[in-house]
Amino acid sequence: MIFNGRCGKKRHRSIVFILFPTIFLVTNVLFNVPNNSLLNQTQLIKPFDQSLLFPINGSIKYLGKACPIYIINLPSRSDRRTESVALIQTLDLQAFIVPAYSIHSPEIYILNQNRNKLFLKLTELACWASHMRMWISIVNNTSSQNNNTWSIIFEDDIDLEIDTPYIMQSLPYSIWNDADLIYLGHCANPPGKLIYQSSKYIYRLYQALHPSCTHAYAIRSNTAEKLINLLSKPSRPIDDLIIKLVDNQQLIAYSIHPPLAIQKLVSKTNPSDVNQINRQSLMYHIQLTIYTFIQWWNGVQPCKALNKSTLKKANLTKAIYWRKMYEKGIWKNYT
Ligand SMILES: *[C@@H]1O[C@H](CO)[C@@H](O)[C@H](O)[C@H]1NC(C)=O
Ligand SMILES: *[C@@H]1O[C@H](CO)[C@@H](O)[C@H](O)[C@H]1NC(C)=O
Ligand SMILES: *[C@@H]1O[C@H](CO)[C@@H](O)[C@H](O)[C@H]1NC(C)=O
Ligand SMILES: *[C@@H]1O[C@H](CO)[C@@H](O)[C@H](O)[C@H]1NC(C)=O
Ligand SMILES: *[C@@H]1O[C@H](CO)[C@@H](O)[C@H](O)[C@H]1NC(C)=O
Ligand SMILES: *[C@@H]1O[C@H](CO)[C@@H](O)[C@H](O)[C@H]1NC(C)=O
Ligand SMILES: *[C@@H]1O[C@H](CO)[C@@H](O)[C@H](O)[C@H]1NC(C)=O
Repeated sequence: MIFNGRCGKKRHRSIVFILFPTIFLVTNVLFNVPNNSLLNQTQLIKPFDQSLLFPINGSIKYLGKACPIYIINLPSRSDRRTESVALIQTLDLQAFIVPAYSIHSPEIYILNQNRNKLFLKLTELACWASHMRMWISIVNNTSSQNNNTWSIIFEDDIDLEIDTPYIMQSLPYSIWNDADLIYLGHCANPPGKLIYQSSKYIYRLYQALHPSCTHAYAIRSNTAEKLINLLSKPSRPIDDLIIKLVDNQQLIAYSIHPPLAIQKLVSKTNPSDVNQINRQSLMYHIQLTIYTFIQWWNGVQPCKALNKSTLKKANLTKAIYWRKMYEKGIWKNYT
């Protein structure tokens, strides 16, 4: 999806990288200095307290081998929570809504003092911290006897293919031993080696070469542990950091094509918390044209709509009613 999403990255950066590699390198060296400080930033981030998890009950607990399913949501974005609840209820999944960090969270305020102002926006720092807290919680919950379990992490602005549970179930067991991360939705990801082609469904699993978004992925508990160590100093948006690890073959990522999860387009009724975009501006259109060209050049398959959207079938009225009944604590009293 283009210029999209709460945790989506700003595309013009990649264009800047291409046009001005030298400037990039020089400024990179200059502006990374604060990141060399001794502070281990992840030490500020504590695992979720049990009381913060907001469960949605359903009869399907697993997507493939992955369970539990988490959805990261800012308590103040109740509009997105309604849709997430409706989405999960329509699929009859068991999931947990977990709170995202906002730019006003005390932890983010402290981490901001160390932020690389040129390459990481405050909102992107909050996004990194939200995923980091998820990984830390997963690791904290993992016993050493059972250190190879999978979880699903969704952001709150997605739509899913209605057959997602069955398609995930159809993936061969072996892939869960081979991959570190499996992307259900991928952005601007040119497919690499074909790993698996379903005979029943049109879906294929590829090695992911450039998975530049974090709205829907399965993660193994020992991958989470790896990322806590490798990504403890956020210098770039989180998806860029992960791509770098994939490039360096420190991570093996797979992605499902066509995607099972897409991000909803950012609009007036669905504003992004990360990127404020003026879609009328000339700059936007120039960036979009260059971006589209680069995508085509890289062999990215266009990210079309889902075959059968779950949100289209979802009952928002029911979700709003359900939220009124069951929300409590931070979910009810957000300000
Ligand atoms: C930072 O702290 C976390 C949590 O205490 C720890 O797991 C991680 O290994 C540390 N990272 C580095 C680079 O020291
Ligand atoms: C979900 O299931 C748990 C455990 O069975 C139960 O305690 C809880 O009340 C249920 N929540 C809702 C909202 O139905
Ligand atoms: C982290 O894990 C330990 C041991 O499993 C547990 O006692 C503790 O409550 C967990 N912490 C949180 C915040 O869940
Ligand atoms: C951690 O594990 C406990 C016990 O299995 C569970 O109740 C809790 O929801 C888990 N916490 C997270 C953050 O998944
Ligand atoms: C995972 O568990 C296995 C045994 O169950 C153990 O041999 C291995 O060292 C553990 N790995 C980590 C990273 O803790
Ligand atoms: C879309 O769904 C229909 C009905 O289930 C199915 O026959 C068709 O193969 C699907 N097409 C794609 C592109 O997934
Ligand atoms: C949506 O849910 C509401 C409340 O549960 C119910 O009254 C309504 O009939 C549902 N709408 C559809 C189209 O199922």
